[in-house]
Amino acid sequence: DAITGCEWFPKHIKDLDICAKRVIMYGAGLDADHPGFKDQDYRRRRLMFAEVAMEHKHGEAIPRIEYTESERKTWGVIYRKLRELHKKYACQEFLDNFELLERHCGYSENNVPQLEDISKFLRAKTGFRVRPVAGYLSARDFLAGLAYRVFFCTQYVRHHADPFYTPEPDTVHELMGHMALFADPDFAQFSHEIGLASLGASEDDLNKLATLYFFSIEFGLSCDSHTDTIDTTGKENHKKQPYKVYGAGLLSSAGELQHAIEGEPTVLRFDPDRVVQQECLITTFQTAYFYTRNFEEAQQKLRMFTNNMKRPFVVRYNAYTESVEVLNN
Ligand code: TRP
Ligand code: FE
Repeated sequence: DAITGCEWFPKHIKDLDICAKRVIMYGAGLDADHPGFKDQDYRRRRLMFAEVAMEHKHGEAIPRIEYTESERKTWGVIYRKLRELHKKYACQEFLDNFELLERHCGYSENNVPQLEDISKFLRAKTGFRVRPVAGYLSARDFLAGLAYRVFFCTQYVRHHADPFYTPEPDTVHELMGHMALFADPDFAQFSHEIGLASLGASEDDLNKLATLYFFSIEFGLSCDSHTDTIDTTGKENHKKQPYKVYGAGLLSSAGELQHAIEGEPTVLRFDPDRVVQQECLITTFQTAYFYTRNFEEAQQKLRMFTNNMKRPFVVRYNAYTESVEVLNN
């Protein structure tokens, strides 16, 4: 890139059309034994969803999908189970906004909501919008979307064989896990700032940002009653804390949600220098999770971290033109 001297990145929201097409379809490391990869009818259906996503362009309405009976059944089974678990384990911001999705976006046990309706709702709330994507993008392309308050969303439903865990994100993960919190202003800001930091970042910094994204937006916990009490031995008090969940990878998987809260996984403070050393596991449960008190704390910690990242230029997001200005220094 002639201006920045680094890899290309989108300078205008319309440039996300380029990112959206660079799908890593069944990326390395995905679970090839999963029934979804062998069922021919399922594969055919997936091609239809891939086409819809590939043809979509910025500014167009997102096509409405008529979900099949089997897809609606899978959705319903998960919906019922997750809503029960959400009420026990999800953070309050998630629960409040989820109710709004039920009221305004057609969320119910009997209906798979449409991306177009959710996108309009989120835009009015925080300026976030969604657009369809055919599968996994590279971390660089995916995070670039967040800089423009755009979230790439799959539109297909997971294979019916295992409703409570899929090795590959699907629309149930997006709709049940992600959508509610993009209606929260602090969460939206946090997401936006990860995106901005990623534009033109070095390979090394990009991997770190992807890991921070993963252990917050996908698998983050919160604990608003946390206090840093130092006991007489000078150690931080690690007594069992009442954690709540805000990460979408947990809120969309009944299996992993129960594992994270009822099991005894390692839970550590969200300190970016530590978090970036953790490996992201994309087709199995995580072995460790990280928590912050709230989204404001997550924002502060992220900023301290990104302030120390080196980029030979400064980016500034212009919300009026939906573009990024690059200032050389
Ligand atoms: N396991 C998640 C679910 O069942 C979906 C998923 C697969 C996922 N890989 C992921 C979520 C990586 C976040 C990150 O809903
Ligand atoms: Fe996700």
